[in-house]
Amino acid sequence: MKNVTIIDHPLAHHSITILRDKGTLTQEFRHHAAIVSKIVAIAATKELKLTDKKIATPLSPMTGRKLKDEIVLVPVLRAGLAMLFALQDFLPGAAVGFIGLERDEKTAIAREYYQKLPKLLKTHTVMVLDPMLATGGSFDDTVSVLKKKGAKHIILVCIVAAPEGLERLAKEYPQIVIYTAAIDRRLNGKKYIVPGLGDFGDRYFGTR
Ligand code: PRP
Ligand code: URA
Repeated sequence: MKNVTIIDHPLAHHSITILRDKGTLTQEFRHHAAIVSKIVAIAATKELKLTDKKIATPLSPMTGRKLKDEIVLVPVLRAGLAMLFALQDFLPGAAVGFIGLERDEKTAIAREYYQKLPKLLKTHTVMVLDPMLATGGSFDDTVSVLKKKGAKHIILVCIVAAPEGLERLAKEYPQIVIYTAAIDRRLNGKKYIVPGLGDFGDRYFGTR
């Protein structure tokens, strides 16, 4: 898929294997979720543009470079918070908007229960954070909300994606770029990713 980048980094493979292992407990799960989130985020932020900035070091004037556009981080609640905590280290000044979505256990269709977004300008780069891209419904709903609010440049960042969800998003939003640490085999009958890692939110927040 042309707009999908899969991160191929030894530390990401290592940490995802720990996330996938059903024996991994909450503390370790959180630790490795943060590592993978940071690696995917570093790759995704290669999309960001720079602009020149004249500064003076203690020794000399020089032209440095700074981020050109403002960044808005949008974690999809709840699981996206895991990625927000990790990314804020790199983007301490980024505005943060929230979308709360919960999949119905039977239909796997997401229901929105919360929304708080900053004003979105066409110059903003919006990074949507959600570790799991299964049917793609949650990302689809989120992108649709963001576009209605004026977002033009949107980057989706996840940890594990299913081919079904990627195809859906490629069809709906051919311009949108997606960064993921893994693309798995398929969805099962309950629309969980296989092999996947189970329910990310429950494992991260210890609510299994
Ligand atoms: C999970 C996950 C995504 C969504 C992915 O959230 O974090 O938001 O499912 O599935 P989709 O691609 O089929 O929409 P969930 O609804 O379980 O809520 P949670 O984050 O509160 O656990
Ligand atoms: N949400 C999850 O947390 N895991 C899946 O496999 C699918 C959706």
